[in-house]
Amino acid sequence: MSGFSAEWLKLREPYDLRARNTMVLHAVFDLLGGHPSVAIVDLACGTGSTFRTLSPRIAARQSWRLVDNDLSLLARVPSSSAGIAVTPAPVDLNRDLEAAFESPADLVTTSALLDLVSSEWLDRLVVEVAARGLPVYAALSYDGRAEFSPSDPFDRRIVEAANRHQRKDKGFGPALGPTAAKASIAAFERVGYAVTHGLSDWEFGPEDREIQTEILSGWAAAARDMRDPARHEIIDWLKRRRALIAAGRSSIRVGHVDLLARPTGTR
Ligand SMILES: C[S@@+](CC[C@H](N)C(=O)[O-])C[C@H]1O[C@@H](n2cnc3c(N)ncnc32)[C@H](O)[C@@H]1O
Repeated sequence: MSGFSAEWLKLREPYDLRARNTMVLHAVFDLLGGHPSVAIVDLACGTGSTFRTLSPRIAARQSWRLVDNDLSLLARVPSSSAGIAVTPAPVDLNRDLEAAFESPADLVTTSALLDLVSSEWLDRLVVEVAARGLPVYAALSYDGRAEFSPSDPFDRRIVEAANRHQRKDKGFGPALGPTAAKASIAAFERVGYAVTHGLSDWEFGPEDREIQTEILSGWAAAARDMRDPARHEIIDWLKRRRALIAAGRSSIRVGHVDLLARPTGTR
């Protein structure tokens, strides 16, 4: 168990799909265009969100290696179908990153992972992919921005506390959290990669009650863990925000970044 429930991943997937940056996606499809067959490794695949996003739009014959350490999530990834071979791979990416690259690949993908990893692990990833000359599509890294409408005087304090909580160890050492996208772009550029990137913000409207409620609960729990602000202030904030959701008056934007990093052969 990784702490990411299948239910949570299912809830967020349509919002992730809508948020994914179109320019970055087109750059991924352009990169793969012209290949008769492609092999893709998806790191921390969960139940296969990135597979479901990309595979219907890739014309080539495809083989996917879907890597995660959570067996209950891996059990839910789609099976192979006509023209698309899917191999679930149980790998702890912190302990054994190299095992993810056991078979040859043309592209590495991941989504909602880089904000969980440490700077050291990111460097390990960059070295592994650069040594193999592999491009990387990394979607949906949280970047620390959260905007609420209508706003509440405590929004900022809560999000700041949640952002500090994001830097705690999520299984890979002290996490990059909101700094992940910036750090990843810089790390890939340092090894001579060209990086295409763009925003992929979640946008929740008043009708998106369930996901807003989940997100707020997560931020409140993180703020409680950080002991900032005071417990009664967190409770009152949560009450006010939930009342806005119930009244159909709440909208939230949550900042994310997508990137495609390609080797340029300059290093
Ligand atoms: C936020 S979820 C994203 C899942 C999927 N990429 C998506 O977009 O729906 C993070 C994923 O990282 C996986 N994960 C966390 N730590 C891991 C580790 N040490 N090795 C492999 N996977 C890990 C979790 O099991 C989970 O599936």
